[in-house]
Amino acid sequence: MIARLLTVSAALCWPGACSGDLNVAYQWDRLDLALRDDGPAAYVPENNVAHRLRVWDGALYVAVPRFRRGVPATLCRSDGDRLHAFPSAGLQTPGNCVALQNVKDIEIDHLGQLWVLDTGVVYELDAAAAANRTCDPKLVVLNATTGAIVRSAVMPPAVYAGRAVLSGLSVDLTTLTAVVADIGPDDPGFIVYNLAVGVYRKFRYSKLHTAAGYDEALLTVSPVDRMVYFTTVRSDRMYAVPVSVFAAPLVNDVGRHVNDQGRKTDAASTAMAMDTTGRLYVAYARKVVAWNTLGAAAFDAAELFVQEVRLEWVSSMAFDARGYLWMITSPFAQFLAGGPGPRRPGVKLFKRYCGTTSFALQAAAAGRANGTATAGTRNAAAIAGPSVSAMVALAAASLAVWSRDTA
Ligand SMILES: *[C@@H]1O[C@H](CO)[C@@H](O)[C@H](O)[C@H]1NC(C)=O
Ligand SMILES: *[C@@H]1O[C@H](CO)[C@@H](O)[C@H](O)[C@H]1NC(C)=O
Ligand SMILES: *[C@@H]1O[C@H](CO)[C@@H](O)[C@H](O)[C@H]1NC(C)=O
Repeated sequence: MIARLLTVSAALCWPGACSGDLNVAYQWDRLDLALRDDGPAAYVPENNVAHRLRVWDGALYVAVPRFRRGVPATLCRSDGDRLHAFPSAGLQTPGNCVALQNVKDIEIDHLGQLWVLDTGVVYELDAAAAANRTCDPKLVVLNATTGAIVRSAVMPPAVYAGRAVLSGLSVDLTTLTAVVADIGPDDPGFIVYNLAVGVYRKFRYSKLHTAAGYDEALLTVSPVDRMVYFTTVRSDRMYAVPVSVFAAPLVNDVGRHVNDQGRKTDAASTAMAMDTTGRLYVAYARKVVAWNTLGAAAFDAAELFVQEVRLEWVSSMAFDARGYLWMITSPFAQFLAGGPGPRRPGVKLFKRYCGTTSFALQAAAAGRANGTATAGTRNAAAIAGPSVSAMVALAAASLAVWSRDTA
């Protein structure tokens, strides 16, 4: 009977629930906002392209990479419809390696910690300036509410080679382990960092090496089947690798553990997100598709938004705790093509009701209801254990039922 109910609710929730209107929540002609007031560095409005997005507790967190000069703050938080340097303007100074140099990706965990991938290298797309590699890459973990630095972990040279191209960031909530990709030519693979142990490890995967030119990794850890789903913007295939290989003692090359999930339907996929039912949302130019990772083995995705001209380049998708899927779009192809950068209305933020959320936000809500979520971060892993695994077990059970009945 319970199984029946779960089946019915899963059937009702999909795909009907994700069919609200696609609304513009914010539109920024130039990401000028409050940055002008608090940035110490020179400011070139058209070089400030909001690139990654997360939502926590009613606030938006936005990564603004320093692809070119004139980006005063590379990590921002919303305050109404303005963005402020987060956690502070002082922590954004280029050339001061303690500060944030170039934030390429961000992730939020269920404890309210914002994980930040700072690649260190700045201005790699600036025609007028050479890329500057003064600072090493690092992962920074912040208290998303207060901005307090929980951890700032500089990567040792052993895990990133000279021409490393770091991008993509996802956090395994059960173990509080970050997974980052290096798609550079010298030592492509995954860089993994466990918050409790505090040590980096590198796992080689030669197929992550991408051709010259702009590319970025997209990756997502699924707590349901404990797989890391990954691809790059320009790759034509979707892959998955079990999270468990990153905890295995003697593994250095994960090549033989990687599953090829099949061909992506469009050439360039620009963003990825996973909801609590194990559905992987993938953004292409003008459309978003969703793939049930627990259903068909091959990447076989249903289309959510098709021929949506407003979705020109979706650089990030994020859920909020109220069931909305947020998408940040920008004229990024035009930005990449060089020239003066996007002068027409630039960054738009869309949202649509989908009736689902991310694992992190669902676990946070469950923990809050149970009065356990807000304990300090020192024994975060211990707190993470019970609530995340209970929630995942529930999600997995309902999905198992769902896929059996629809097979
Ligand atoms: C790189 O940045 C550092 C710190 O801002 C600066 O001292 C150095 O001159 C820069 N290097 C190049 C080649 O511009
Ligand atoms: C609430 O927390 C307790 C321990 O702190 C745990 O045993 C229980 O399973 C939790 N309940 C839920 C619904 O997560
Ligand atoms: C963030 O800081 C607040 C205030 O000190 C604290 O209550 C909360 O537990 C902290 N959260 C995390 C994830 O450290």
